[in-house]
Amino acid sequence: MAMHHPIIHKPGSFPVPPNIADHEAMRRSFGWEEIERELDWLPGGGLNIAHEAIDRHCAQGRADKPAMLWEGKDGERERYTYDDMRRQTNRFANVLAGLGVAKGERVFTFMERVPEIYFTFFGALKAGCVIGPLFSAFGPDPVRDRLENSGATVLVTQPALRKKIAAILPQLPALKHVIVVNRDGRSKEPLAEGDLDFGELMAAASDELAPLSTTRDDYSVMHYTSGTTGKPKGAVHRHNSVIQQYATGKWCLDLHPDDIYWCTADPGWVTGTSYGMIAPWTNGVTQVVYEGGFSARKWYEIVARYNVTVWYTAPTAVRMLMKSGADLPRSFDLSSLRFVASVGEPLNPEGVVWGQEAFGLPIHDNWWQTETGAILVANYASMDIRPGSMGKPIPGVEVGIIDAEGNELPAGENGILAVRPPWPGMFQAYWNDQERYDSRFQNGWYLTGDEASRDEDGYFWFVGRSDDVINTAGHLVGPFEVESALIEHPAVAEAGVIGKPDPIAMEVVKAFVSLKEGYEATDELRRELMRFAREKLSPAIAPREIEIIDSLPKTRSGKIMRRLLKARELGLPEGDTSTLEED
Ligand code: PRX
Repeated sequence: MAMHHPIIHKPGSFPVPPNIADHEAMRRSFGWEEIERELDWLPGGGLNIAHEAIDRHCAQGRADKPAMLWEGKDGERERYTYDDMRRQTNRFANVLAGLGVAKGERVFTFMERVPEIYFTFFGALKAGCVIGPLFSAFGPDPVRDRLENSGATVLVTQPALRKKIAAILPQLPALKHVIVVNRDGRSKEPLAEGDLDFGELMAAASDELAPLSTTRDDYSVMHYTSGTTGKPKGAVHRHNSVIQQYATGKWCLDLHPDDIYWCTADPGWVTGTSYGMIAPWTNGVTQVVYEGGFSARKWYEIVARYNVTVWYTAPTAVRMLMKSGADLPRSFDLSSLRFVASVGEPLNPEGVVWGQEAFGLPIHDNWWQTETGAILVANYASMDIRPGSMGKPIPGVEVGIIDAEGNELPAGENGILAVRPPWPGMFQAYWNDQERYDSRFQNGWYLTGDEASRDEDGYFWFVGRSDDVINTAGHLVGPFEVESALIEHPAVAEAGVIGKPDPIAMEVVKAFVSLKEGYEATDELRRELMRFAREKLSPAIAPREIEIIDSLPKTRSGKIMRRLLKARELGLPEGDTSTLEED
């Protein structure tokens, strides 16, 4: 824990009063019933995320309020009111019913950030299905693994993306329907045999829907996330998570009804659903959705054009904005901004402070993960910021630092970041993997896989991951998934994958491989392996660097020692190597 930067003191009064006036006082008195009362619920006590995010606003006089201001990557602009969202999501729920898709079935999306992904997401939730969004940059392998593991029966995708994964679709016997969104007839190619046309199905479906029937305990959203060993696991949430997503939108992003909000995360990752869909719309704000990727100029343009007031982004993006300089933001009118937050990786103190220079606002770091469903530790609008700290736990949840035996550690000591279960957004399962789910709990705590410390005043400080999971630009990458892809190449005998520190992306994926007999370590082969991995996986998670070595360090039981690879890469002491295999 190091505090090199002075505390950023918050003023006593604000133009827009923060939703949390005094965090400490609120933590002492808060009970979740307070937030539960602010939700609408279904008649009879049920709960449905889509109802809370969309329908209730229509019933409460906000039908004509813009919910989504969409800008496509080619500059197209579309605007959808809450009532438009209600009708489109009703339609998609009816489409699913018409296809005979039952409650609890897994519906997956493999799409860009187009409006249809939002209709599909909430439509599937209205139908009682479990919705699993996949990152559109994925190659065929990650898509196959996730659809196979979840037993998805429906896939909604777009023509070019469908083409990318054509070869794996016949390997998925559970998949009954492939629905293709051909926006404005962008693709001229005919549908593949057996595929369904999203536009036609929607046009034929009613925009009114029978009453919803989900309960707080029904499964809702599923995101695959990487662990140390094995393939990614499907973290499953339930409708109950909306309670915390709504609350944290209000507390940690300080959303007020008049806000114009922009979350830069893709729905293929949990930030893009919890905070790019559920939190903003349950709070009734107008949300900007930009289909394109990062560009400093374009991003400032979006903030200025839409008068964005609350902006939620990621440390890698902040570092890229920093790289483009503090003059660029000054050439835009960014005065609409009121609150800026970031998540996904540690936000350097310099990033927090740079926000002040560029926007006149510090950047508020907060912490959570796929399994937690929603923010758990945050810097609040009204609370002084200690640059480099993730902030303090939200009201209603206990977060602690524990040792390997599950005992709580005092302030100032590094340990495992742990959460006292249950909390409203807590994941309920890893799909079909009870054992792994259970392994995340110990001594009455949920173990996050992160190491951190807490200071005397209750601020939490991130130290690092306690496992081999790599965090590249906010995307968690399981080394095993990358290693599995690499060893499918005929030249590769073994692969070991680590995160290599990087000034912008925090870490980049680096692979060490050894070759089979008869192959030579040439530059050409290295390039070929990079291409191979990018095509199979995705440029986002494929190795940025591949080094060919004679053999990989292994334990006596044959496990590749990634930690040793990493220590060697960083020129650090190799630590305890007593279990190392003897040649
Ligand atoms: O290691 C922590 C890091 O990202 C992990 C969660 O990643 P994921 O499950 O993909 O969830 C993304 C939604 C936030 C954490 O276990 N992480 C997240 N936020 C921070 C962070 N590390 C440091 N500081 C943060 N604010």
